[in-house]
Amino acid sequence: MQRLSLSRAPVPAAPVAEGGSGSGSAGDWSKDAAWDATRRPLAEAFGLHPAAYCDPGFFALERERLFGRAWVVVGTAPEVAEPGRMLVRRVGSTSVLITRAGDGALRGFVNSCRHRGTELAEADCAVGGVIRCPYHRWGYALDGSLVSVPRFDDVPRAGFDPADYPLLGVRVGIWGLLVFACLDPETPPLDRWLGDLPERTAGYGFDCWRVCEERGLDVAANWKLISENFQEYYHLAWVHPELAKVSRVSDHYRYQGPGMYCGQTTTPVSGDERDDWLTLPPAVGLDSSDGASGRFLAVFPNGLVSVLPNHAFVIRLEPLEAGRTREHCTFLVPPAADGFTEAAFVSTRAFWHQVNGEDIDIVERAQRGLSQGGVPPGPLSPRFEEPLHRFHNMVADCMTADSLATGLRVPAGDAPGDPERYGSRPNPNPPAIERSRTPGDET
Ligand code: FES
Ligand SMILES: [Fe+2]
Repeated sequence: MQRLSLSRAPVPAAPVAEGGSGSGSAGDWSKDAAWDATRRPLAEAFGLHPAAYCDPGFFALERERLFGRAWVVVGTAPEVAEPGRMLVRRVGSTSVLITRAGDGALRGFVNSCRHRGTELAEADCAVGGVIRCPYHRWGYALDGSLVSVPRFDDVPRAGFDPADYPLLGVRVGIWGLLVFACLDPETPPLDRWLGDLPERTAGYGFDCWRVCEERGLDVAANWKLISENFQEYYHLAWVHPELAKVSRVSDHYRYQGPGMYCGQTTTPVSGDERDDWLTLPPAVGLDSSDGASGRFLAVFPNGLVSVLPNHAFVIRLEPLEAGRTREHCTFLVPPAADGFTEAAFVSTRAFWHQVNGEDIDIVERAQRGLSQGGVPPGPLSPRFEEPLHRFHNMVADCMTADSLATGLRVPAGDAPGDPERYGSRPNPNPPAIERSRTPGDET
């Protein structure tokens, strides 16, 4: 159906990672040589090897080296806004508790009792002051301190001090709509990870947005395929003919500053042929750019955030197996929007689920092709797939770095006036952060 003319430029030899075509030992992927085709300049780079999507050995190593060390999205901010709320989330191979204590502090802990290691909680819940282990009823306050040790003093144990056995801490943080956790104390802080995202999106006032709906979807595809699909609009006209009426290919622009994310924007969101995205009332106080645009951010590694002037659709990717991912989908809207109606939301929601369903169908098909075909990786499109190149290099860095303390490379963003926009024209109505960096370009 698609007749694409590929570049006539000399094509590098098809890359083959160490370990062969799909059956290589997982250990090879921690070596730089396996990522040669990823680390070439965009115009010479190839997609990831099928093993990155299909091989259980790759998946296990990725769980350890990438999800075990990155700042991972574990939820949306409203989920843990209330004191006493506790989330139970998987980060890499570790179960993590995220709590909001009465003092307002957000904290993270390993979900294992300090007595004999029992899982403390199975699912999100409200905690009435103390986290109780179901086994021998040791109790922990929401700040992690051990506050109750039933009958332990029946026969006193010399030198035992409950203060020596708090829950093991995990770093957590919030940006905008997302909650993050990081298992590795060596990983640089969240603000370095996020780069310019907080400033870039400050105009939306995300702190006050509320959740309209949450739902989970199981997808028979690797988590990276879902993220890659989100990052490129190459497929827009063919996979989403209706979406292409409100988010036109010609209205897409770069939205890329420094940080561990891949961004793009649609300006303007169009309402002349379909108005599904515009039926809800917009947030109050947006500037002319935020008020007219759709922002699409793949926050590395597992957060997919779409922000429109009047709602946001967030997908948190939870990798289950090499070829299986759970999508946690959340709709959010700005506060107290006059004119909010369930009917308007139904229209917005239905449109998103149609679009997301089309994306799921195509990524599941991509997964089948990769697992059944095992073909060598193909060339990336310089016009449309620079975000994938950026993303693949983040994956490569996490997989190969000895430590993210020294090995984390937060990629740069577009420079003002940068001619290398990969075929995208300058945004006629750029976000404030880009206007402020381009003197004389005010709109
Ligand atoms: S294992 Fe938790 S109290 Fe014994
Ligand atoms: Fe899509």
